[in-house]
Amino acid sequence: MIKITNLTKEFSGQKVLDGLNLDIQKGEVVALVGASGAGKSTFLRSMNYLEEPDAGTIEIDDFKVDFQNISKDEILTLRRKLAMVFQQFNLFERRTALDNVKEGLKVVKKISDAEATKIAKEELAKVGLADRENHYPRHLSGGQKQRVALARALAMKPDVLLLDEPTSALDPELVGEVEKSIADAAKQGQTMVLVSHDMNFVYQVADKVLFLEKGHILEQGTPDEVFNHPKEERTKEFFASYNKSYLKD
Ligand SMILES: Nc1ncnc2c1ncn2[C@@H]1O[C@H](COP(=O)(O)OP(=O)(O)OP(=O)(O)O)[C@@H](O)[C@H]1O
Ligand SMILES: [Mg+2]
Repeated sequence: MIKITNLTKEFSGQKVLDGLNLDIQKGEVVALVGASGAGKSTFLRSMNYLEEPDAGTIEIDDFKVDFQNISKDEILTLRRKLAMVFQQFNLFERRTALDNVKEGLKVVKKISDAEATKIAKEELAKVGLADRENHYPRHLSGGQKQRVALARALAMKPDVLLLDEPTSALDPELVGEVEKSIADAAKQGQTMVLVSHDMNFVYQVADKVLFLEKGHILEQGTPDEVFNHPKEERTKEFFASYNKSYLKD
């Protein structure tokens, strides 16, 4: 069980996260949606301290940190528990797919080379890249690179996988393969917090949707509740304009 309380972050006097609270159950997939600038990325990045929150706490089972008073050791532990996949893959260009996945296992988890190789091969196979182990990122498609990034994050067996628009840098025809790998991990019980503009995907994969607006959770519920029966005017407006710009009627 993961519990976030009072997560607060200002940028030059502007409250970007305004005391957010969120409980996440094991195996749950939580999706953050909302307009550009709502604070979605800041929320994810604050969870694992890539962004320094001004206040708040996070509890992951019996590990609890207060962001105002966090130690170096706690930051490292937190990042081990919360692995992140970014829009822009962030792979090491001079390392093969296999070595990219092995890196964190060896450096962070201090796992032996043989064991790291075994785990990395398994994770690459799970995302359908068993035959690309020895490829360098420049010889992989965007979708393949993102699946390597996903395998790298999953190999760390994180308590929570954080995904910030993992498919928005991809050509449309490559989106499906990455979404399938994410959905597979969700089916295997991987707890996730996902930011995505792909509402069809969110609808399929999320257990809970949070609609963020100006650093507040304005509305939350199942995808059906939030998408099809929004209560707040602002949420209704958002989905109405979303449907107009993305979907054909
Ligand atoms: N490093 C920073 N310095 C100053 N302001 C920032 C910084 N990062 C984010 N902001 C501001 O915080 C607000 C929230 O940004 P954030 O990136 O979290 O939004 P978002 O919901 O992820 O938007 P998008 O959908 O466009 O990715 C924005 O007003 C943004 O300009
Ligand atoms: Mg963002």
